[in-house]
Amino acid sequence: MRSLAEEARRAGRRLALVPTMGALHEGHLALVREARSRADHVTVSIFVNPTQFGPGEDYERYPRTLEADLEALRRVGGVDAVFAPTVEGLYPYGEAANATWVTVEGLTDGLCGRYRPGHFRGVTTVVARLFNVCRPHIACFGLKDAQQFFVLRRMARELLTGVELIGVPTVREADGLALSSRNAYLSPEERAQAPVLWKALQAAEAAIQRGELRPAAIVERMLQMLATAPLARPQYVELVDTETLQPVDRLEPGREVLAALAIYFGQTRLIDNVIVRIPSPTDR
Ligand code: PAF
Repeated sequence: MRSLAEEARRAGRRLALVPTMGALHEGHLALVREARSRADHVTVSIFVNPTQFGPGEDYERYPRTLEADLEALRRVGGVDAVFAPTVEGLYPYGEAANATWVTVEGLTDGLCGRYRPGHFRGVTTVVARLFNVCRPHIACFGLKDAQQFFVLRRMARELLTGVELIGVPTVREADGLALSSRNAYLSPEERAQAPVLWKALQAAEAAIQRGELRPAAIVERMLQMLATAPLARPQYVELVDTETLQPVDRLEPGREVLAALAIYFGQTRLIDNVIVRIPSPTDR
């Protein structure tokens, strides 16, 4: 993979990487299209990264659908390389004996980081390795995982990787449910109630647009909306600053806020978010 990438670089091509864990859906294909529009050599990596799953999470049962993924990439077109390494390929000493980690402090403390200890360390470590092997100029990530995007962007800047990160808007089903490989785990009843995540986020956005500046009132509004879905069990519902990812005491007109939530349906954990610019009184 590295010699292929180096050769493309030498030929003056602009390289894009789309890192994925496979089980590709329209959301991933939107990343590929975005990459294609910004670069002239696109690599898609497919690797279910063991170090970002905690004990008891779904590493073993995470869907692995390589043949279908390759077919989907052939259909969408414009992909120059698919990099699907083995665990030993990316963790030469094995994942259990891995000694070299990349950690981003602060931004990983809250939101998903609070409930998935070690998750972001696994993500930053594997993405740094993918950058080293695939040598991209740009890398595209979905904004459904907004915290992941902000953490990786910080890592890419602070490690001076030279890789520009592109955040691509979330692709949704017609009823608002964000596309996710984990949607496949939902029972029909859970699937029917799952659009409540998007409804809660829309309620937050509407409250902010109406001029609500108290985070607690907006969170309360989201919780009320979530309570209309009896199978939804909130893990967190928060409003944080998009720079620091820390909770805000009061919304400041002109700044951006990230409304984010993680909700369980049975054993399935779904996340979603919206980034809202807080209007000043003169905008309304
Ligand atoms: O978002 C994902 O699919 C994964 O976290 C990533 C970025 C491919 C790293 O394993």
